[in-house]
Amino acid sequence: NLFIFVLSLLVALFLAGTPTPSYGLILLFFILTLAFGVLIAIPIGGADMPVIISLFNALTGIAVAFEGIALDNGGLIIAGTVVGAAGTLLTQLMAKAMNRPLRNVLFSNFGDSNEEASEIEGSITESDATNAAMTMGFADRVIVVPGYGLAAAQAQHKVAELTKILEQRGVDVRFAIHPVAGRMPGHMNVLLAESGIPYDLIFDLEEINPEFKATDAVLVIGANDVVNPVARTDENSPIYGMPILNADEAKQVFVIKRGQGAGFSGVENHLFYHENTDMVYGDAQKVLNDMIAALKTL
Ligand code: TAP
Repeated sequence: NLFIFVLSLLVALFLAGTPTPSYGLILLFFILTLAFGVLIAIPIGGADMPVIISLFNALTGIAVAFEGIALDNGGLIIAGTVVGAAGTLLTQLMAKAMNRPLRNVLFSNFGDSNEEASEIEGSITESDATNAAMTMGFADRVIVVPGYGLAAAQAQHKVAELTKILEQRGVDVRFAIHPVAGRMPGHMNVLLAESGIPYDLIFDLEEINPEFKATDAVLVIGANDVVNPVARTDENSPIYGMPILNADEAKQVFVIKRGQGAGFSGVENHLFYHENTDMVYGDAQKVLNDMIAALKTL
């Protein structure tokens, strides 16, 4: 990487000092920088990817600002600086939320441990929408953990309807939002706001984590990596050290997902094998529909 970086820098300096550079040299510069970008991104995996995407966005902004300076174009300078500054801030916030200093993300190949990941204990138990609905309906406190699958299923309006029914029954419903749940910053907040879920029911990771112990039932909807307990317990796991929502500490957990599909990081989720976890297989929208129908019969 260092070799390609130094080479690109030398070519860039040479190009800058040549009044009419050849197309071949310009092409070489693009190939070198492209290779540099690919080589930097390839070793980064697991849950670090959002941080690096945000960093690349920030660098794009800075590049545009420099282009503005070179072309003496105020518009480009302002637009580039805004994107660069916002992206840099977001990168820092995300790296902090993931408990990973930026230099670790960039330079210590995430998930390159040679050690074996820990063995999975327990077995998967399956349940259905009716059973999940009944448990929620008779619970005092429920926490909903939304993830990428909620967005993929476009099930935000269904979860809002379910919340309303549960609240009418006197159940205390809250939403736990992980900083990198979904596929972009604030993804879950936007979805929940769109479906009209009140802001005072939505809590960040630090606020809600101590609450799981005193919670009767957790409903995980299309979330996977953000509730994987190996991030807390298995030093050899590629996602070790990433803060997670402690859903496993609740009395009962229901996980809605379509099948055995892995999360973004590709790491097996040990939560699904816990004794207090039941899987409810199906598309999130359909399962929530069935849960609503079951609750309406009460
Ligand atoms: P993931 O770990 O990606 O898990 C999503 C789960 O949703 C999958 O296991 C999938 O299982 C299930 N699913 C997909 N479609 C579904 C549907 N229609 N109905 C029900 N379930 C469905 O999601 P997460 O827990 O939200 O974590 C986010 C991950 O993305 C993190 O690893 C994070 O680092 C990464 N990431 C985040 C961002 C930002 S900024 N938020 C950006 C890039 C990457 P099935 O296939 O079995 O259904």
